[in-house]
Amino acid sequence: MIDQQTINQIFETADIVEVISDYVTLKKSGSNYKGLSPFTNEKTPSFFVSPAKGIFKDFSSGKGGNVVGFLMEHEKLTYPEALRYLAKKYNIPIEEKELTADEIQLRNERESLLAVTAFARSFFRDQLGTAEGKAVGMSYLRKRGFRDDIIVKFEIGYSPEDRKAFSNEAKKKGYRQEYLVKTGLSIAKEDYLTDRFHGRVIFPIHALSGHVIGFGGRTLKADKSIAKYLNSPESDIYHKGKILYGLFQAKKSIVSEDKCFLVEGYTDVTALHQAGITNVVSSSGTALTNEQIRLIKRFTNNITIIYDGDEAGITASFRGIDMILEAGMNIKVLPLPDGEDPDSFSRSRSASDFLQFIKENEKDFISFKTHILLEDTRNDPIKRTHMITDIVRSIAVIPDGIARSVFLKECSMILDVEEQVLYNEVNRVRRQKLEQRWKTEGTEPPQITVPQQPTVPSFVEEVYSEYEEREIIYFLLKFGNQVVRLSSENNAEITVAQYIIREIQNDELEFTNLVYKKIFEDVKDIIEHGEPIAERTFIYHDDARIRDLAVDIYTSRYELSKVWKRKESYVELPGENLGFEVPKSLLSYKMKVVDSALSDLRKSLEKLEKSGNLTGLNDHLQRIRNLERVKRDLSVSLGGRTVLR
Ligand code: CTP
Ligand code: MN
Repeated sequence: MIDQQTINQIFETADIVEVISDYVTLKKSGSNYKGLSPFTNEKTPSFFVSPAKGIFKDFSSGKGGNVVGFLMEHEKLTYPEALRYLAKKYNIPIEEKELTADEIQLRNERESLLAVTAFARSFFRDQLGTAEGKAVGMSYLRKRGFRDDIIVKFEIGYSPEDRKAFSNEAKKKGYRQEYLVKTGLSIAKEDYLTDRFHGRVIFPIHALSGHVIGFGGRTLKADKSIAKYLNSPESDIYHKGKILYGLFQAKKSIVSEDKCFLVEGYTDVTALHQAGITNVVSSSGTALTNEQIRLIKRFTNNITIIYDGDEAGITASFRGIDMILEAGMNIKVLPLPDGEDPDSFSRSRSASDFLQFIKENEKDFISFKTHILLEDTRNDPIKRTHMITDIVRSIAVIPDGIARSVFLKECSMILDVEEQVLYNEVNRVRRQKLEQRWKTEGTEPPQITVPQQPTVPSFVEEVYSEYEEREIIYFLLKFGNQVVRLSSENNAEITVAQYIIREIQNDELEFTNLVYKKIFEDVKDIIEHGEPIAERTFIYHDDARIRDLAVDIYTSRYELSKVWKRKESYVELPGENLGFEVPKSLLSYKMKVVDSALSDLRKSLEKLEKSGNLTGLNDHLQRIRNLERVKRDLSVSLGGRTVLR
């Protein structure tokens, strides 16, 4: 915990230009500074720093904020980490809150373990320079084509054949046996220690902070009975499922490329770096965990899995895919020719050829999975049914509704199955999941409060305000019960649903999409009866399209409309920001309505003028002027801020 006074002092002392200059070359431009965006790969500078305001703004990525925000964004630090970074830079002492005895014990323990792994890293690295290291370790690396800069970058090393070399040296330097054993570097025998990694080439594994927390050691022997790799065991500092090999070296380029390659092994990571592709990490031969996926998601939403073209590689990528999809990430797959791994493959061609290969062969996951399964089940109708279920299950976990429908369309084409059939199946799966959630949360059985009414007619084909209408329905269903305050009316309390209904009715607006209109009417009915809006009402609605939409809405994450994405550089959590988003959503809907009315009026005005019929001309002009005024008012409000609190 850092106390507020220290935080204030940090903010007062930190010079944003100076801090950012450590990462970006800035040039003075008027009262501001300007440079190339560190978040994108731009050629023309659109990254600005205002020392007077103490903020930065990056127009190419839309990011902006204060000095701490910059460090959080650029270095992927947490808020306290960024503050600590600045405190260190400006020599501001931080008064830590008192730690409990247990906390001190744990911290000391972790620090002792880290001291051991840091020593080991240097020891192994230095061994590459000894006579044995050169003759055995280095010559192996050379044979495999490792370049010097890559050996340095990944701090690759060598552990001597002598089974006690490391342990003895470490003990001599005063490292305690307890920690040597806990890090797994040494193995305790009856009365001595042996080296876990002896006779192996060493790949240190770095935490995001840059600390070495574990090691992978590759044998130099061709003997199949010897494990090719040995890895550090789990310890207080090393949790296999929570780290990714190479992430420390890759994090910056993952952000600037906005993409992360995922490969299987240590040498695949180093080989890609050597080929000039630095945004790459490895899960080190094991199945990807959710923690690892979340780790990548901190840096980018785009993953491309590069796997061996053999069967094991393909199965492994299938397993990873659903978890990545479920995290709402975009996923592509790059299958390599049979028998090749990224290491061997990149070695056999130039960097530019490899990049070209990636561009041409990267497949979005659905076509990848579909094609492979199609191939497998070509002449077997029963297998084929299973396959369709399998693909549909993958699509069903994607949180974003729009992405789901794009994949469904593609899938229906490739498989030659009607889109609606797939769509129903996806919704069935999602509904199942939702019911599962209710069950585990122990909520009561479904309750239907909407009176039976005739179902609405089909979708209207062209709805000009489709997106805006949908957003309003989204807020209505998902946040309708939430109470907000009207700042313009003495902070009168009102629910989001009441507010939306009032706004729509006051302007006598009517949704064009008939499904939305029906939902709106139903909600109005519920509110008039003084009831809350229940998920179940819509998820079990009589109308299948409403059911599907509701499932979609209740299972999808909060999403800002395109307009806001452009205007606002960051996405805030729903609930905290509803007072801003809901009014904006209504305003932009009204804007769409006005725009469309205006364009209708202008068209008919044109017709009138052409026909020479002047009656009604004045009336038209008057109405156009009125609407233009409304439009002006709307855009002023749209530019302004919060209406509700
Ligand atoms: N692995 C492991 N233990 C093994 C074999 C493999 O931990 N006994 C992990 C390693 O992280 C390895 C990855 O799985 O990098 C992929 O295995 P593999 O493809 O067999 O090795 P490569 O990375 O290709 O290593 P090399 O090129 O040195 O053969
Ligand atoms: Mn290999």
